[in-house]
Amino acid sequence: MSRNPKLDARAREILIGNDRGGYTVPTHGLYPFQWNWDSAFVALGFATFDHDRAWAEIETLVSAQWEDGMIPHIVFHQDDEGYFPGPRVWGTGRTPPTSGITQPPVLATIVRKLWEVEGADPACPRMQRLYRACLASHRWFHTYRDPLGNGLVMVTHNWETGRDNSSEWDDALARVDTSGVGSYQRRDTGHVDATMRPRQEEYDRYVAILQFGRASGWNHRTIADEGPFRMVDVGMSMELLRANRDLLVLAEALGETAAAQELRARIALSEHGMDWLWNEEASAYCSRDATTHESSGLVTNASFLAFYAGVGSAEQRARLIEALERISGSATYLLPSLEAESRAYDHRRYWRGPVWLVVSYMAAIGLDEQGYPQWAARIREDSARLIEKSGFYESFSPETGEGSGGPDFSWTAAMWLAWCGR
Ligand code: GLC
Repeated sequence: MSRNPKLDARAREILIGNDRGGYTVPTHGLYPFQWNWDSAFVALGFATFDHDRAWAEIETLVSAQWEDGMIPHIVFHQDDEGYFPGPRVWGTGRTPPTSGITQPPVLATIVRKLWEVEGADPACPRMQRLYRACLASHRWFHTYRDPLGNGLVMVTHNWETGRDNSSEWDDALARVDTSGVGSYQRRDTGHVDATMRPRQEEYDRYVAILQFGRASGWNHRTIADEGPFRMVDVGMSMELLRANRDLLVLAEALGETAAAQELRARIALSEHGMDWLWNEEASAYCSRDATTHESSGLVTNASFLAFYAGVGSAEQRARLIEALERISGSATYLLPSLEAESRAYDHRRYWRGPVWLVVSYMAAIGLDEQGYPQWAARIREDSARLIEKSGFYESFSPETGEGSGGPDFSWTAAMWLAWCGR
């Protein structure tokens, strides 16, 4: 049953309008290339009306996978002067050009979903190919991004987390030396209001980290061991654990015994390792610096992905639900990217308050699965109301429901079709 057929039609129109032939741009102008986790969520939207196109979205992304297994965060299929940092700045020397970093590993979870909707046939060649791509990508994370050996995910650039400008990265970013950055021309503030975007000194740090990677020749070992930014991200740690569980289902269906064994071991490691992120004072899982071991102490929307990952003792879960109750006291619309009482909260600024529906979607799925259907329903209902009120924006104010960032956003349209508009 559709909630609003007009919005269904509009959402489909957005996806089709942002389709550049085998891949979808997140939004016209601001983000003119293919983004990794955007494509995963966009595939769920396409799957509601065009299965073939849904698979193609992911296949195009994976065609740019590196030999070492990394699936890049951006694929620059066509040049576009309206974006910084573009392919020449990254200088990865790849064809097609890509960035040198990755993004949240949600792909295996979505591949499993597409495959199950089509009847879960183990002989499905499209699933098989993507299974292998996801396995290689997960192995890349295990090889390069688990410096503590506890099954969690370290990121080497804040852009890898997908929650690019979250306050969780502030302390680690403050230590990044920007003296050698030089001059460059930002493009983002030409597309959207500067008050919504990162500040200049923050942007310099993002560029400095990029320049370190480039100077290393995009050597993922050097970047992981010696890079200027090394954070264990609560979001990606939860997402990879979930993705490993979903990949295991595929491995079992394919009779891949050795890979299944390997995945089970990774899952057990991450389940035990997750407590390293638990912050007693914040009563939540929080991102933590891999170098200084300092916890951010911040409760963000990613903290609630614990349910999606299926972790936490009964006591930890109860405390997370208390945090959710507290947050719902100050947010008209769940799920804000940062709690209103936190330092740096701003209901309009990127990842410092606004609601992103893809994170809300994952949190709601987890809450539903783990026995909190009323919270899942609340988040879903709020998400639908945001779109009904403001349209298909990139993000929304948790206070007023106003849209922020880019308009006609692909993954917001996809979330309507696949989730909150149903
Ligand atoms: C912003 C978001 C990131 C997303 C990208 C494209 O950089 O922070 O998560 O992938 O936009 O939508």
